[in-house]
Amino acid sequence: MQQPFLKTADPARYLFVQTFGCQMNEYDSLRVQRMLSRRGYLPTSDLHAADVIFLNTCSVREKAEQKVHSFLGRLRRVKARNPQVRIIVAGCVAQQLGKKLLERFDYVDVVLGTGGIDSVGELLEQVQDDHCRITHLPDRQEDENWRALFQQLPSIQSEIVAPVTIMQGCNNFCTYCIVPHVRGRERSRRPNEIIREIQLLAAGGAREILLLGQNVNSYGKGLAEKTSFVDLLHRIGSETDIDRVRFTTSHPKDLSDALVACLAQLPILCKYLHLPVQAGSDRILQRMNRGYSADRYRERIDRLRQCCPEMGLSSDVMVGFPGETEEDFDETMRLLNDIQFDNLFSFAYSDRPYAASSHFPDKVSREVKARRLTELQSLQATITLNKNQAEVGSVREVLVEGPSRNGEGQITGRTQQNRIVNFTGPRHLLGKIVRTKITAAFSHSLKGELLSKGS
Ligand code: SAH
Ligand code: SF4
Ligand code: F3S
Repeated sequence: MQQPFLKTADPARYLFVQTFGCQMNEYDSLRVQRMLSRRGYLPTSDLHAADVIFLNTCSVREKAEQKVHSFLGRLRRVKARNPQVRIIVAGCVAQQLGKKLLERFDYVDVVLGTGGIDSVGELLEQVQDDHCRITHLPDRQEDENWRALFQQLPSIQSEIVAPVTIMQGCNNFCTYCIVPHVRGRERSRRPNEIIREIQLLAAGGAREILLLGQNVNSYGKGLAEKTSFVDLLHRIGSETDIDRVRFTTSHPKDLSDALVACLAQLPILCKYLHLPVQAGSDRILQRMNRGYSADRYRERIDRLRQCCPEMGLSSDVMVGFPGETEEDFDETMRLLNDIQFDNLFSFAYSDRPYAASSHFPDKVSREVKARRLTELQSLQATITLNKNQAEVGSVREVLVEGPSRNGEGQITGRTQQNRIVNFTGPRHLLGKIVRTKITAAFSHSLKGELLSKGS
């Protein structure tokens, strides 16, 4: 094992903070934590005990960025008390602001762009030895990146549910979105590498894989070996020992019949799909550059449910996009009522740098956005609870992921439809798929009763 950069008798400690982020960002966080552990660092949750503070950031909404600024503000005093501490800011805010972050927060040591995660170890050594401050925003050389990511694997024990990035970046340029500007163009990872990584994760104890990308349905474009997302799923089914696969995020405009059929038929695929709709008004969808109408979205959902009535569905929705009228908002409410998602992530629109919509006229006031968001969330809370209650009495397969937060000897896991089930059971069931009978429903979880000892 390499030595941490601080050559003291005590092991160096790192504090890892993720202000918010999509799963791709969380995956980067996991990689950084693995890298730091391999260099001998121990994790701490104490700001003042840390030798390194690593902040991974998200820039997708204004609030997420504001959190980064306020956390960095708090670090001024930490650095004043302990000038030896090294502060690294990575992720999408780092990519977006670059050198400006070093200027604004003169105690930050490293600003690390989204293509530079793998250099964290070397950069840490450099800022320690040379007392310099670094902005590292490399071009995204995906081959290099993927390879480094791959090499980290064999030494680790896998999580029961393990994320695997299959592509990076996005080409869609939804008008509200900063992601293509901070993560770059869409790049797909080679299928053989993905398969190899999943095989290694399965050998290390993973039972479920979460395939990650901003738009996984368009996987494979630009690859030398022609492979579609559906091809990749079939290969995972036949060439690895993994039991369950989920993927996120799908784009409604790219949800092909072939993928719908695959979801219905391929046994390893969980009967669950996250399909962000964003709005129910065609006028707004068009201004968002989403590439589908509300009716087309409804048609896709009908098709999915025809092929697979068991399918669990979740979505993302935004209120207060520039120019959104009460009628537009009503269309969104109508769509939610019609579709009856099992779960929903909802947001108030905010202007983002580089996003085309930040220049659109007719901005919706903060008050109106807040009111619409409350209305929408209260409608969805009722739908989610009803759908959870409809589960009572059914028998569901659950992959046990760990002890439940409820304590009292309870363990927790997810159904294929992504519902959390808490139930009484022994710890040795961790990583096993068990059958449970659902006995009660709450707004965010279910209560179950163990029926089988697990496979
Ligand atoms: N690639 C995914 C998710 C991207 S970000 C997709 O295409 O759906 C996650 C969610 O954040 C989006 O689905 C959207 O609902 C929300 N979001 C993105 N930009 C936003 C903005 N400027 N204001 C408010 N919400 C936003
Ligand atoms: Fe952003 Fe749209 Fe790409 Fe999703 S598909 S990351 S919302 S630009
Ligand atoms: Fe946020 Fe960057 Fe993901 S902006 S949503 S962390 S790609």
